[in-house]
Amino acid sequence: LFQNSCLQCRRAFSTVRRFVLGIETSCDETGAAVLDDTGAILGESLHSQKQTHLDAGGIIPPVAQQLHRENISRVVQEALDRSGIEPSELTAVATTVKPGLALSLGIGLDFSRKFVRLHEKPFIPIHHMEAHALTVRMLHPVDFPFLVLLVSGGHSLLALAKGIDEFLLLGQTLDAAAGDTLDKIARRLSLRNHPECSSLSGGQAIELLAKEGDRLAFHFKSPMGQLYDCNFSFAGLRNQVTLAISKKEREEGVEKGQLLSCVKDIAAALQHTVASHIAKRTHRAILFCKSKGLLPQHNPTLVVSGGVASNEYIRQTLKIVTDATGLHLLCPPSKFCTDNGVMIAWNGIERLKQGKGIMSHSEEVNYEPKAPLGLDITSEVKDAAIKIPPLKLRINS
Ligand code: KG4
Ligand code: ZN
Repeated sequence: LFQNSCLQCRRAFSTVRRFVLGIETSCDETGAAVLDDTGAILGESLHSQKQTHLDAGGIIPPVAQQLHRENISRVVQEALDRSGIEPSELTAVATTVKPGLALSLGIGLDFSRKFVRLHEKPFIPIHHMEAHALTVRMLHPVDFPFLVLLVSGGHSLLALAKGIDEFLLLGQTLDAAAGDTLDKIARRLSLRNHPECSSLSGGQAIELLAKEGDRLAFHFKSPMGQLYDCNFSFAGLRNQVTLAISKKEREEGVEKGQLLSCVKDIAAALQHTVASHIAKRTHRAILFCKSKGLLPQHNPTLVVSGGVASNEYIRQTLKIVTDATGLHLLCPPSKFCTDNGVMIAWNGIERLKQGKGIMSHSEEVNYEPKAPLGLDITSEVKDAAIKIPPLKLRINS
């Protein structure tokens, strides 16, 4: 049909497949992937620095930078090789430029800028949190608007996604992120010395141990019970848990680095308190959106993403909330909830389809370590002061 038409016409009728290379280096994963415009993953590669940072007891930015530097060329080449797509066949390159660790973002951006100049390809700068929020659309046909909960090592936020580059920020953490808190408490408990947890992230270790723990053996107060907004806070909870650990250590005469006898109970109580805090803020966000008519009548959806969202207990707690409020709960599989090149390439595809935020290879782009997600309406949410009805958040783990 289009045999004799020009390239532009054929592109307009989308008979030509478009390919985007996505590159992610905002934190501790060097990721790259090639996707086509249907969202098919043609090739991907991921180098995780998690073990190095786990050994060091936290992310040291210059170390993260060095590891990105050592791996980026190989990771991108692997993704291209596996996809069978030549650089010349790419429609565009999409790269995370915000928010994230400055030193890490810089490596991905430098590499990408050289790459797009060399191959004369359009460049699509990506907001990391937007990418997390939109990944679900690669897997399911979710229409805007929908509610998003992002809970990872670096972020905890609730937002309404109104379009690919249009978000209303309903709440965010006032101090630490959920995942970071789990990581720090896991370290305080020396869970690395537990035979089953040595290679797990803090959150994974807590989830595993909590399965056999009695959550009622400890009582931690749910954060911000008296504040009727959708913000999160985890610093106070960390403090409560740390005090409980110190007390038990004294009672049991446990030395630094040794495991307490009650680690499983602490893990269970901590996981329950985190899940219940997240569930309550999400419940309020749903009621706020409903009261303002921000969610569609038909099939209103809550999308949950970020590393912490792979926690089965937290997912089940959220399911209780969405069942009670008539929302559809969507949690992409864990591998799409954590940082990777796929989500960045998908965001590039979404932008390409709508012709939004596409730059020429010669334009200047800078990275931005701090970048808010969308329009901040957290104070409006606070003013609405919505009281949530009690829900029984009891999970059989
Ligand atoms: O999304 P992610 O890979 O990296 C970013 O922070 O962007 O999330 C990593 C975080 C870590 O803090 C880790 O402890 C947490 O997600 N995490 C979990 C689980 N798996 C990973 N937290 C709770 N339960 C899990 N199963
Ligand atoms: Zn992330």
